[in-house]
Amino acid sequence: MDVYEAVASRRAVRGFTGRPVPRQTLERVLSAAARAPSGSNIQPWHTYVLTGAPLAELKKRAGERLASGDPWDEPEYEQYPPALKSPYRERRSAFGEQRYGALGIAREDLEARQRAASANWDCFGAPAALFCYIDREMGSPQWADVGMYLQTVMLLLRAEGLHSCPQMAWAKFRRTVAEILSPPDGLILFCGMSIGFEDVTVGDLRVARAPLGETVTFVDGR
Ligand SMILES: Cc1cc2nc3c(=O)[nH]c(=O)nc-3n(C[C@H](O)[C@H](O)[C@H](O)COP(=O)(O)O)c2cc1C
Repeated sequence: MDVYEAVASRRAVRGFTGRPVPRQTLERVLSAAARAPSGSNIQPWHTYVLTGAPLAELKKRAGERLASGDPWDEPEYEQYPPALKSPYRERRSAFGEQRYGALGIAREDLEARQRAASANWDCFGAPAALFCYIDREMGSPQWADVGMYLQTVMLLLRAEGLHSCPQMAWAKFRRTVAEILSPPDGLILFCGMSIGFEDVTVGDLRVARAPLGETVTFVDGR
């Protein structure tokens, strides 16, 4: 698979089969992803890979929390600016319409949206997940490094025939994740990522992108 194909075929997949992902495959992907760039090569990512009984236990505990109405953990970072301005606000709401529209859920049906979103905490059925932490002392450039690393992971997963869904949703249940992973103090959970083979019966959501001219400016004297 060439890089264009990996980029074009990667998308946030929200339905996985239970087919296990071999440990050697995950090791191959994560070893290769370690080549991702980072400022001064500090490699600020801390990755935990969860499969089998520990992942099942995490999903169970998260499901119990959801069912009991236990509120989300207080945020350790702002997932979005409190007042998202234009054009980001419109893009976000267009995404919501595409995502929930594809499931036949109306814009105003918040309960159905929440029900669909709750699949996050079952990793959309995935048999593997990773959790990516960053040191609390790191700043925006290092958070960007982590983003590059995670995209590298997701593209390499495509080369292995696997799909993924990055999930900030797990930050809302970060204490439950920490119960299973026992990360050292001083790390912030940036996101989880569900990993597995796509359940093709779930539907192929292709979220549109802004036209090139909206996000890219060529300055070439023409
Ligand atoms: C850092 C990050 C966090 C995300 N968190 C979630 C999440 O919690 N749940 C979810 O369903 N999708 C999540 N997504 C997926 C985005 O919604 C998705 O990437 C975006 O809508 C573009 O769609 P595409 O990746 O399918 O092209 C996240 C993506 C990123 C990059």
